[in-house]
Amino acid sequence: MTPHTPALHIALGEPTGRRASPDLWGIFLEDINDALDGGLNADVVQNGQFEYSPEDRPGWGPLTAWTAQGSVTVRSADPVDPATATHVRLHGERTAASITNHGYDGMTLGAGPHLLELALRRVDEAAASLTVRLTRGDREIARTSLALDAPAREWTFLQTRLELPADVEDAALALELARGTADLDVVSLRPIDPGTGRPRTFRPDLVAALAELKPSFVRFPGGCVAHGLGLENMYHWKTTLGPRHERRHLRNTWGYHQSMSIGYLEYFLLCEQLGATPMPIVPAGVCCQNLPGGPRAIPQDEMPEYIRDVLDLVEFANGGAETRWGAVRTALGHPEPFGLRYLGVGNEDQITADFRDRFHQIHAALRAEHPEITVIGTAGPNPFGTDFEDGWTFAREEDVAIVDEHGYRTPHWFHQNTRRFDTYDRSGPAVYVGEYAARTSRLRSALAEAAGMIGMERNSDVVRLASYAPLLARVGHTQWTPDLIYFTDTEVRPSASYHVQRMFSHARGEHVCGLEVTGAAPRVRGVPDARSVRLRSPGNRVRWSEIAVDGITHPDQVTAADGEEIALPGWGADACEISVQLTRIEGAQGAEIHLGGPAGTTHYTVQLGGWQNRTSVVGRSDDGIGDEIDGPTPLRGFATGVPRHVRVRAELVAGSVRLRVWIDGELAHDVQDRGDPDELVVVGAVAREDGTRILKVVNATAQQRPLEITTSWDGPVTGTAEILAGPDPDEGAPFEAWPHPIGVESLHGRGRLEMAVPAWSFSVITLPAP
Ligand code: AHR
Repeated sequence: MTPHTPALHIALGEPTGRRASPDLWGIFLEDINDALDGGLNADVVQNGQFEYSPEDRPGWGPLTAWTAQGSVTVRSADPVDPATATHVRLHGERTAASITNHGYDGMTLGAGPHLLELALRRVDEAAASLTVRLTRGDREIARTSLALDAPAREWTFLQTRLELPADVEDAALALELARGTADLDVVSLRPIDPGTGRPRTFRPDLVAALAELKPSFVRFPGGCVAHGLGLENMYHWKTTLGPRHERRHLRNTWGYHQSMSIGYLEYFLLCEQLGATPMPIVPAGVCCQNLPGGPRAIPQDEMPEYIRDVLDLVEFANGGAETRWGAVRTALGHPEPFGLRYLGVGNEDQITADFRDRFHQIHAALRAEHPEITVIGTAGPNPFGTDFEDGWTFAREEDVAIVDEHGYRTPHWFHQNTRRFDTYDRSGPAVYVGEYAARTSRLRSALAEAAGMIGMERNSDVVRLASYAPLLARVGHTQWTPDLIYFTDTEVRPSASYHVQRMFSHARGEHVCGLEVTGAAPRVRGVPDARSVRLRSPGNRVRWSEIAVDGITHPDQVTAADGEEIALPGWGADACEISVQLTRIEGAQGAEIHLGGPAGTTHYTVQLGGWQNRTSVVGRSDDGIGDEIDGPTPLRGFATGVPRHVRVRAELVAGSVRLRVWIDGELAHDVQDRGDPDELVVVGAVAREDGTRILKVVNATAQQRPLEITTSWDGPVTGTAEILAGPDPDEGAPFEAWPHPIGVESLHGRGRLEMAVPAWSFSVITLPAP
């Protein structure tokens, strides 16, 4: 610690009278990044129902994840169930016919018993037995056989156990018919839980990682997955119940296949196992807007049936066995109700007339029939902007109980927004921060999230619920980073953000405490320190001509597709003006103009022709992490050989930057960046009913800080500090576990405590009641 390091002082006060929401910290489980099949789902067989298709992903089909030998044909006539019609026919003639499943990345199985289940139909009497083998390369690890003695031409469900002598990785499951002809479908292989003797539904190590988060609630099934890409892709809960082969499969929004092996019943069971309140999200009668032609609404004549489905969901979760859907739940093996309290309607929907209309119908029906259910509305994909504003206005008009806000933003944004909820209206709808993450898996992001969460907790009279997103990601199969928990077949890799979530959840209190903090000087980073102008065109070759920066002309330039930049002096004074003509020589998009420091430092980006050459965006980047601050704005795309004129003006106004962009003479962007300071040292405190005080301290600076905590009571003070810290804020990476142990320190004092808060750290300091 240097003598110049400014000391921090926290005067810990008494409970303010504001209660902390008991449901504040939860999780959001969506089928993205192979979170379910290939993840939580304990079944190691991939595509066990042969339903994969090129619509899921180009190149995929019924035999994806399988290899076939001998005479094997794909068919769909006379299926087990029309919902999942595709199956295979094995025809053992001179040589055996076999089909081998390779799981997700090869099968990983633990020692012990496993249950193989499948549906089989003998086509002729010669088909007498199916050989089942678990192999690793040329080595056979386990073998059994299934006698086929059911009447021919009828589908039969068969089971057998496979006993594994030891753990095995990279294995495969081979099913072989030596003679005769038989049809095969609905194959699964799951470990048997030694405790219950039943096959597992969920992968235990992933469930343990979720349980360690002690979530108050689980939001499911999405996200984008809930409202779907098109009406035919919408998630309908009723079609996910019952035997696997009767469940309707879906193309997954994220570019793979959803078998629905984890359907609504399993989601509810998982909630129960985690001790968490279920929070299903149903579509608001409209599908996702991110498809050509925009969102579509369920036709009005189908709305009564759809609304009935939503009401039936409440009955399925909570109704007694004497109710129609409570009886369905009972028949599925769960007579006890699931205790549904929250129901989300919609996800990040565009606030269109159709949305308003359909939402209103669903909301009114829920209110009338189930006033006990708290409905959660939606306010667009960003924590600002048109859908955010319109979503909130609509929610107030509708008197929706809670609004779901989403914020995937930079650490800079989180540090600027720690006081965001301090001024929220307490008389309107409450807030659910349903999805948020500070853009990376680095420590810097985790600390920014912690700073944001302190703001949520301090305001948890209005912020009732929050969940990070996405939750799970199978390494090598991700569509979205960062994620909270990365995993392979053999490992669970919690990120730094995971530890932040866990530490908050374990350190809850019932009351928000007052406190006074001195020495936490915020940092103003409104304006880039370094200033230059850089021209780039990653992925495209572009000619830049008639270049003038701050009135000085420059020779023509060509930027290459490899992302090389051409730097020009500029923005020496308060304002900077760039005028340029750009002509694409090669490529499919446009170009970028950067103003400010080089990569890794603060700069603005004017992106011309992003999002498939359809938009322009103004972005800001700090510490190598960027976000849009204006746009995307629709743009007539760039065409090869056609020059476009672009003018950009940046000027300092009241300590922050105003940026304007004209494209072909028309104003496309006019944005004033926010100049608010970054709160880099952030402190919050809660109290438990038993008098325990819990402080949370973020230090997102490079300096270790001496900390003194004074309490309102005299006499001995003891406590413990749990500390997440790292030597470098850029430590931590997607797909990897946070590499440092979480520290624990004991604290002792009289009337006050002292400790050193490490640089780049998040500390939870627990002080039992005196
Ligand atoms: O969390 C990933 C996605 O982000 C969610 O599906 C969606 O709601 C948001 O856009």
